[in-house]
Amino acid sequence: MKTKLKMTINNKEVDFIKGETIYQVAKKAGLFIPTLCYMEGYKPSGACRICVVEDVKTGRLIASCSYPAESGMEVRTDSPQVRMSRKKIIELLLSNHPQDCLTCTKSGSCLLQDLSKQYGIDEIAFQGGAKKKAVIDKASPSVERDMAKCILCGRCVTVCSEKQGVSAIDFSHRGFSTQVAPGSFKSLAEGNCVSCGQCIMACPVGALHEISHKKLVIDAIINPNKKVALQFAPACQMTFPEYFKKSISVDDATKKIIGALRGIGVDFVFDTCTAADITIVEEAKELVERLTKKNKPLPMFTSCCPAWINFIETFYPKHTKHLSSCKSPHMMKGALIKHLSEKLLKTKAKDLFVVSVMPCVAKKSETGRPQLENEGMANVDAVLTTRELFSLLDEFGIQYEKIQDSDYDRPFANASGAGKIFGATGGVMEAAIRTAYYYVTGKELDNVDYKPVRGMSEIKRATVDIAGTQVNVAVVNGLGNVVDILEDISSGKSDLHFIEVMSCPSGCVGGAGQPYNTDAELLKSRTKTTYKEDENSKIRRSHQNPDVIELYDKHINEHEAHDLLHTRYKGDK
Ligand code: SF4
Ligand code: SF4
Ligand code: SF4
Ligand code: FES
Repeated sequence: MKTKLKMTINNKEVDFIKGETIYQVAKKAGLFIPTLCYMEGYKPSGACRICVVEDVKTGRLIASCSYPAESGMEVRTDSPQVRMSRKKIIELLLSNHPQDCLTCTKSGSCLLQDLSKQYGIDEIAFQGGAKKKAVIDKASPSVERDMAKCILCGRCVTVCSEKQGVSAIDFSHRGFSTQVAPGSFKSLAEGNCVSCGQCIMACPVGALHEISHKKLVIDAIINPNKKVALQFAPACQMTFPEYFKKSISVDDATKKIIGALRGIGVDFVFDTCTAADITIVEEAKELVERLTKKNKPLPMFTSCCPAWINFIETFYPKHTKHLSSCKSPHMMKGALIKHLSEKLLKTKAKDLFVVSVMPCVAKKSETGRPQLENEGMANVDAVLTTRELFSLLDEFGIQYEKIQDSDYDRPFANASGAGKIFGATGGVMEAAIRTAYYYVTGKELDNVDYKPVRGMSEIKRATVDIAGTQVNVAVVNGLGNVVDILEDISSGKSDLHFIEVMSCPSGCVGGAGQPYNTDAELLKSRTKTTYKEDENSKIRRSHQNPDVIELYDKHINEHEAHDLLHTRYKGDK
């Protein structure tokens, strides 16, 4: 058992365990200490010193996020000296920070703005600090960098290297010229960035944000020659109740948002979960073929996360043959909507503008892949993040009480519970197991809840018994966590058959397009909502979804299914 030690914070005796930092002890005791560079779960860098506390015995100011608590120590978290020091740090940061809060995408969620308010800063005390070089990098299809706003906290650098194993950005130059940059490259687009966007979620200020497609969408909505068809990813739907800041179900929030969108001129609204069911039908077929016919190598990787696809193509190109050939669900849906638009929507495909609302910034990079075109048209024309959708609704002054509820357009409006769990880490795997079992045995799984692949752990492994065949599966979130598995495959040591990889923490519910300030509690709550939605669904297996059955029976043949629902990767022949 770990011995409890004691220290004093703000005259109050508190317990701690050896190894805990002063910040952690204070947090446990319910005392607030501000942070900027610190991130839970990462080694503190001690770069900003906003978290200083006063050591009562020595009068020294120490950085609480990195300083270990000591037995008998006495600290104050809010003494006049502490407040003065923090105020000075904030004033120095503001002295060379652009004063464009009114137009900054992070306004309202910016830590520097919050701290300025908290410390009563109502004027810029130090004018004309060493001005940072204004570098605006918009070359990446997913992430925009505005380096004049960067406060050099280093959070993006840490996440990119430690969590994602990519290291696309790092500190460069020294002293006043220090900046965060994509190595020796001029722009993020030239280096190894995989567009996961997790650096955006880590950035405490507005230095990083998504490449916006909002204007493209508004232009299409007001264009009389265009019809706009919009679809929602499952993880966005689980987040919709947060927009209304009310206790409201996913279903009710979705109906409100569909109603609001129709009110501003969106012509069709579809559910991407139906396409998630189609993905499962195609992916489970492919897995069973790889297992039984051995026509392609094992293990098979899921392919619905575009940042993961970028990662494999960039760092492990010889492993692209392990990727399922299935397009991601919103791309399947886009391809189907355009292919069937004349028949089912009475609209010419060239007049349709397909928008995907995604929890993701990598999906923006996906829209530009030449492999994701059919009949000379991109499958999807624009991607709005959940954040962008919320800001679009704000822009149009949507008022909850005045919205007329509305429902998804038909056909393809039904989704099974399996299609709804795509947003949580392990969801694609669980959905695929439900259908693969049926394809192998011809019987339905008695219990569809496959709990070993659920939960927010970064790596989960399990063995599924499918009619006597032991199928070894792994579920990973965070790209850095898949590296050992990839190395095992490279050296022929892997015994895995099927691997789900999602780049973002907890899967798409923690995607980089989700509302800022998504924390562990919100991730847990969105994940819980996801499984509740599945549990409450009448149909919980993708292959039983009547819309999916109708698609194959009435609307596409085998050749069209191959063309519209599957893709190739860089280097494929
Ligand atoms: S988008 Fe992802 S890979 Fe690119 S710089 Fe940010 S964290 Fe790194
Ligand atoms: S870009 Fe953002 S996260 Fe990265 S160092 Fe600058 S302020 Fe910190
Ligand atoms: S995990 Fe989901 S949100 Fe994150 S990059 Fe992949 S597809 Fe996008
Ligand atoms: S938060 Fe502790 S040094 Fe930055």
